[in-house]
Amino acid sequence: MIILSGIQPSGTLHVGNYFGMMRPAIELQEQGEAYYFIANYHSMTSVFDADERRHNTLGVALDFLACGLDPSKAVFFRQSDVPEVCELTWLLTTLTPMGLLERCHSYKDKLAKGQSPNHGLFSYPVLMASDILIYDSNIVPVGRDQKQHVEVTRDIAIKFNQTYGETFVIPEPQIRDSVAVVPGTDGQKMSKSYGNTIDIFGEEKPQRKTIMRLVMDSRPPEEPKPDADKNIAVQLLRLVAPKPVAADCEERLRAGGLGYGDLKKALFEHYWEYFAEARAKRSELENNLDYVNQVLRDGADKARTRATIVLDRARKNCGLD
Ligand code: ADP
Ligand code: TRP
Repeated sequence: MIILSGIQPSGTLHVGNYFGMMRPAIELQEQGEAYYFIANYHSMTSVFDADERRHNTLGVALDFLACGLDPSKAVFFRQSDVPEVCELTWLLTTLTPMGLLERCHSYKDKLAKGQSPNHGLFSYPVLMASDILIYDSNIVPVGRDQKQHVEVTRDIAIKFNQTYGETFVIPEPQIRDSVAVVPGTDGQKMSKSYGNTIDIFGEEKPQRKTIMRLVMDSRPPEEPKPDADKNIAVQLLRLVAPKPVAADCEERLRAGGLGYGDLKKALFEHYWEYFAEARAKRSELENNLDYVNQVLRDGADKARTRATIVLDRARKNCGLD
């Protein structure tokens, strides 16, 4: 089984990225041949500063390795080290109906948020399809917002296979329902574009501040809260604290008696503890960048070998050989 996923180096990684994509991907590295990459070509649709891209790319590499990606189990690389994906994108783009891309929520959302509609942003899902198809991927672990892109990938692959004969494996998205959408500090989906994120890594003081600023209502501590399960801090606590702790806080909130300040303090403590090991690992890696770069180079070699096989198959089937 081939497992593949990618993440853009378009900002600092947050708890939503971790639970929605990174942790499932890290768990899956035990179960098959995994390919995980830093989608730096994709980041070109929204980041227009070269140094920022370099900085974020290294940041994602450090974060992912610190969180448990094991390069002896998973192939880890930069997307742009496999330029074959760009050639395959062209082959796919010629069979991609305009309407398929026009329907993509992510494109419409980005325009609604004021991003300028460049062609890269519009054709983003075709490059993503190429990322997935070029490794013969079976499973794509992603957060719910990326599901439609994997469906687009399937449509394009089916059309290619119908037109030119059996070429691509049809992939399946894998979405964890329990963490499909991690809420941000304002209760909306946590996303760097909403400015409501809690970073995975960061200094203790600002992180504590962020958590203490979680938006709550004005009900006093003693008032029973029958909607305790919808509370943002409770939802986050379920992710970072042992089950009985999260259940106890939820119950005390429901019954009345637990104030929001204490709830947030508990959340901070558990969040800080949850990522303690990863934080230590990240500091170690920061002092060993040669190792990190070597991991990415080795990953690129392996990824490229497989990508070339699939690209050659596609070229041959459509008469480009
Ligand atoms: P952002 O919304 O912050 O820009 P990305 O779009 O770069 O995040 O997402 C990277 C990966 O993390 C994707 O697989 C996405 O589904 C997942 N992800 C992002 N935010 C969340 C969230 N709040 N809950 C669950 N998964 C998320
Ligand atoms: N579009 C994904 C995101 O923003 C990143 C990505 C690029 C990806 N190519 C991919 C994810 C292929 C899974 C598979 O999160």
